[in-house]
Amino acid sequence: MKAYEIMNILFSMADMSGFENTCDTLKCGQADKEVKKAAVTMFPTVEVIKQAQDWGADLLVVHEPLYYNHMDKHSDDPVEIKKRELLESTDMTVYRYHDHPHIARPDMISVGMFEAIGLDGEYEYEADGLVRYHLKNEITPRELAAHMEEKLNIKHLRIAGSIDTPCKVLSGKFGSPGGVGRELRNDKSEIMLIGEVCEWADCEYARDAAQLGFKKAIIAMGHIPSERDGMKYIAGVLKEKCPDLTVKYFESGEVFQYT
Ligand SMILES: [Fe+2]
Ligand SMILES: [Fe+2]
Repeated sequence: MKAYEIMNILFSMADMSGFENTCDTLKCGQADKEVKKAAVTMFPTVEVIKQAQDWGADLLVVHEPLYYNHMDKHSDDPVEIKKRELLESTDMTVYRYHDHPHIARPDMISVGMFEAIGLDGEYEYEADGLVRYHLKNEITPRELAAHMEEKLNIKHLRIAGSIDTPCKVLSGKFGSPGGVGRELRNDKSEIMLIGEVCEWADCEYARDAAQLGFKKAIIAMGHIPSERDGMKYIAGVLKEKCPDLTVKYFESGEVFQYT
């Protein structure tokens, strides 16, 4: 199959009518490249690009940008130039797959994350794409964080708010989301799972809410750990849709190292 045919299968999973200017475009290489091996990743780090090339990938599908801005405009910054040279030295065609999985209903990244967390419960889907997960059994944020660190292989989770209060509702705000304050103030929300978090506004709200007796907590996951299982899920979807393709997920690793 050609790279653009594979991407069209993935793109067809979301209704993009009314959505202008998607970042999900060809970023490098040829759209009509014949693909036998497809690599999928969360962040196209230098290491991931090298590993995918060594593996023999024809296509690299990435969730996040190559050049640190949403539309992947690149400049004459020396880091960007070197990264571009590295990419162009490979045989890979690179496509972004970011907007479509988030616009799909349900949001494919959120579904992949809740499936990976693997607790019994039921989904609730909001029209704006927010996915809540109603647990069958109560769990405290502290217990949930320990469970997630193990299940999702996350090095370090942080909790703001009511850490030891049993809760049943998880709101997914993965990645670098908007609308955190709105969901935090929603009566339904109990534990919010957030990728990148605003401490002064949202975490302090959760702390005050908890100290005033409200059931509110934020678990700050970090950007990569909060979405990578969504991209692993998409790698699985791609394999299902294109059974003749060899598909492999490449781990970007967490951006922070710990002392
Ligand atoms: Fe993201
Ligand atoms: Fe995302």
